[in-house]
Amino acid sequence: MSSPTLALDPINPLADLDQWEDFLEGRYKEGKSESEFRQYDAEATPGVAEFYRLNHQHQTHAYVLAKEKQYFGLTRGAKSVWEAAEFLNTLVDDSDPDTDLTQLEHLLQTSEAIRRDGHPRWMVATGFVHDLGKCLCLYGEPQWGVVGDTFPTGCAYDPAVVFPEYFQANEDIHNPLYQTKYGIYEPNCGLDNVKMSFGHDGYIYQVMKDHLPMEALYMLRYHSFYAWHRHGAYDHLCNAQDRAMLPAVLKFNPYDLYSKGHTKPNLAELKPYYDDLFAEFFPATLKW
Ligand SMILES: [Fe+2]
Ligand SMILES: [Fe+2]
Repeated sequence: MSSPTLALDPINPLADLDQWEDFLEGRYKEGKSESEFRQYDAEATPGVAEFYRLNHQHQTHAYVLAKEKQYFGLTRGAKSVWEAAEFLNTLVDDSDPDTDLTQLEHLLQTSEAIRRDGHPRWMVATGFVHDLGKCLCLYGEPQWGVVGDTFPTGCAYDPAVVFPEYFQANEDIHNPLYQTKYGIYEPNCGLDNVKMSFGHDGYIYQVMKDHLPMEALYMLRYHSFYAWHRHGAYDHLCNAQDRAMLPAVLKFNPYDLYSKGHTKPNLAELKPYYDDLFAEFFPATLKW
């Protein structure tokens, strides 16, 4: 048994990126109350609490603008979807290679669960690509800048964002312009105009925005915006289109949260199907 008092990595306190997703699963599937998961988290997985502390402290509005400038121009080269998945698979973590699934296997489990339930082909493709933006870690971004619940910056933090007390260490808390209900935004301006905290959702949306239908793009862009899609917060920034797309985001969420089993998908068997699927929606290479 490892001791919970072991020193955490000060920059990347999660054992691996999946530890954040395991936390989400516990938060929603097991129906833990807020006080239960907080307590569980502080004791059983202190790395998760530390990860959120860093995320809420460092994701300022200025940070988001700088990272969007750095990455949203898609200047990191061209890759096919398969190449991007293989690249993500080079992410080495501390998990057990015998029992844990690789990043590619996780993607296939999500897309295969969507396919089994008879959803349209574009949604199967969305399931496969939804976490490819985690390659930001391989570009050198810290865990707190790649995964974690996303939230609007430049306006008041809603208490529905997990661990809201950690925002006290965010320097934006001292900028009165950013601390009103609407902050720098107009009422019902639409989420497209809102600068969300930076991470893998926003990045994969940029890569995919010309290639998938609007429902898919909402699934990609807002799949970690739990305060909105699970808790109903920030409706005052939403427009009619956002509200019309919310059911799509909710339809996708169970596949993101719960499709991870321990049966390894057979890549060789599945590859022809996915070759056809990717050819239907994506050009031979995409800009990343
Ligand atoms: Fe994700
Ligand atoms: Fe995911």
